[in-house]
Amino acid sequence: SRTPVTVTVTGAAGQIGYALLFRVASGQLLGPDTPVRLRLLEITPALSAAEGTAMELDDSAFPLLTGIDITDDPDVAFDGANVALLVGARPRTKGMERGDLLEANGGIFKPQGRAINGHAADDVKVLVVGNPANTNALIAKAAAPDVPAERFTAMTRLDHNRALSQLSKKTGAPVDQISRLTIWGNHSATQYPDVFHAEIAGKSAAEAVDEAWLADEFIPTVAKRGAAIIEARGASSAASAANAAIDHVHTWVNGTKEGDWTSMAVPSDGSYGVPEGLISSFPVTTANGSYEIVQGLDINAFSRARIDASVRELAEEREAVRGLGLI
Ligand code: NAI
Repeated sequence: SRTPVTVTVTGAAGQIGYALLFRVASGQLLGPDTPVRLRLLEITPALSAAEGTAMELDDSAFPLLTGIDITDDPDVAFDGANVALLVGARPRTKGMERGDLLEANGGIFKPQGRAINGHAADDVKVLVVGNPANTNALIAKAAAPDVPAERFTAMTRLDHNRALSQLSKKTGAPVDQISRLTIWGNHSATQYPDVFHAEIAGKSAAEAVDEAWLADEFIPTVAKRGAAIIEARGASSAASAANAAIDHVHTWVNGTKEGDWTSMAVPSDGSYGVPEGLISSFPVTTANGSYEIVQGLDINAFSRARIDASVRELAEEREAVRGLGLI
């Protein structure tokens, strides 16, 4: 049988962790032929809760799960990690300024980046879920100079899936007939869900909707969906976020469909005018465990203004963490 893949999950005792771990252990992250070894990282006061989750993982008797380690030490948690899912983060609390939020998260993602640099497997793939996800990924990347920069990614797959679902509802087309949707920019309210290259059963999606719907309904609904979930559920999205994390890594490892792409926030190579090094969401294709930014798309004025606004926000966040000495 195959050697187990080591999957490290931070924030394992949190609500996304609870929705995520069972799906990783059941084989949905890497496929039905790949055994998994889990390493759970939590802060000391949450270790007991993580142990409770591990007991339930044991009780699920997953055939693919070969072991679980629980620790509050990043060096131990990332030892030999092939996949690192960085979910735990410091949430913004009332009255907290952006600088405070970035600084608090720097205190989490800088040491984790360092631990990945020192201890992870050579093929490590990193997905940052914890917000502000793009900039947390930037901080971790900067602390891991020996790891190829392109292994640090942040999650916009939930936004991508939300956009798919909204477009499906609007047009009546099932989600699996919609391709080539793109989320650009930051995983924040400035993100830009772009349908101008999207296709529904091979035909232009943009022609199936009008610009007023895009500007007044679609874009704000996708961008503000997280807040709408909190309002309705009384808690932030967890199962859908875990589902998107599974999708992100599964696609990265197993490849995109011929003719389609997905959205991932990845270090920019300067494509589409996004300053090099910013971790910004792009259309990407994946194959054989690596990804490429889709090149050569025409960007119309409607899209250009929105991509630029979101990228500007990312550049400001980068300046802020630079000012704090975090990168
Ligand atoms: P939660 O508060 O339920 O869980 C977070 C867990 O992280 C807690 O158990 C906490 O103890 C742990 N943690 C905090 N600092 C840590 C550290 N230094 N090392 C290890 N663990 C640590 O939060 P939830 O709902 O699970 O969300 C997690 C993050 O995911 C949040 O930042 C949230 O904003 C973000 N998120 C991102 C989405 C995206 O699309 N990128 C979507 C939904 C949530």
